[in-house]
Amino acid sequence: MKKLCTTELLSEKRVRSLRPVREEEVGKLMKLIGGEAGGGGAVNLSRLLFAVSNMITSRTAFGTIRELEGSFLPGIIDEHVSRKRRRRETEDHDMAEGAEEDDNDDDDLVDVLLASTNNHVEVKAVILVSDSSPIAVEWTMSELMKNPEKMEKVQREVRHFFDKRGEGAVVDEALLNELKYLKSVVKETFRLHPPAALSLPREGPETVVVNGYQIPSRTRVIVNYWAIGRDPSHWTQPNQFIPERFLDTCIDYRGFDFQLLPFGSGRRVCPGMNYGTAVVYSLLANLLYRFNWELPNQIKPQDLDMSENFGGAISRKKNLYLIPIPYHAP
Ligand code: HEM
Repeated sequence: MKKLCTTELLSEKRVRSLRPVREEEVGKLMKLIGGEAGGGGAVNLSRLLFAVSNMITSRTAFGTIRELEGSFLPGIIDEHVSRKRRRRETEDHDMAEGAEEDDNDDDDLVDVLLASTNNHVEVKAVILVSDSSPIAVEWTMSELMKNPEKMEKVQREVRHFFDKRGEGAVVDEALLNELKYLKSVVKETFRLHPPAALSLPREGPETVVVNGYQIPSRTRVIVNYWAIGRDPSHWTQPNQFIPERFLDTCIDYRGFDFQLLPFGSGRRVCPGMNYGTAVVYSLLANLLYRFNWELPNQIKPQDLDMSENFGGAISRKKNLYLIPIPYHAP
């Protein structure tokens, strides 16, 4: 059931169908930043990214627009999950008696999650922590600010792309073949800063031998994806941000190349991968196309603080403040 739901409802098709929501919310964010730009002041990009991501999650998870207020999510999730659970329970019951389904209440992300677990707390937790997309965008922008020549290179590519296709062009997986450097930049960010550094815990039902180590059955195993991405036996100059390393390889983050596993792999691979990366590419392409970016307070690129905050997910410890300068197509 879980497999069916995740492959159907968080599938590429579903993610494509959620595109208008994404585009609209990203558009609003660009307008907001545009309004701030020109004054020469810095914006708190971290806060804005988390706000827009909450907005997109709210609209896709609950199928409706909710007010964006500081602590809006937990309460709304509680109410929505309870309602959906009640609906599932009564429907199951009514359907047994031949009642028709209420088709005003479309399936949304909460239905997908409820299909895999009936545990209210688990569903709430996944909705609250599952969206690592703003973290990925935060790290990408940070690395690009630290490496101005890479920033210039990726902006050149993105601007060439949009100047040719028009501002409203949509960046989807199919078009990423044209944005090879942007894709490499994102892969390199996922390698150095996988937002979920560790896998969820698992236990094997049988004793197995891995690389000569015997792992007894029922041992709790946690995989360190962060360490894999920086393993010097797989990566040259593992701590350097070098997107070019991906230009001539097929190494991808989808779970088949074991040296790069920001979404995990196998049966427990992240079901939100398509959804998450769609948000990442949409935000990044727009931020890079529409604005040039400067560090505030004469901070030099090499001095940008890159400390990590270790919690459920690894985000920046300090918010990223940047000065936006609008870009005008020639
Ligand atoms: C850039 C964004 C994201 C990243 C980097 C990410 C990464 C991950 C990772 C590493 C895991 C653990 C895999 C393992 O245990 O080996 C995971 C699990 C999971 N993710 Fe994501 N995720 C992202 C976005 C999302 C989104 C948007 C959703 C939901 C809409 C989501 C839902 C889940 C769920 C439900 C699991 C648990 C799967 C299971 O235990 O079988 N994730 N994610």
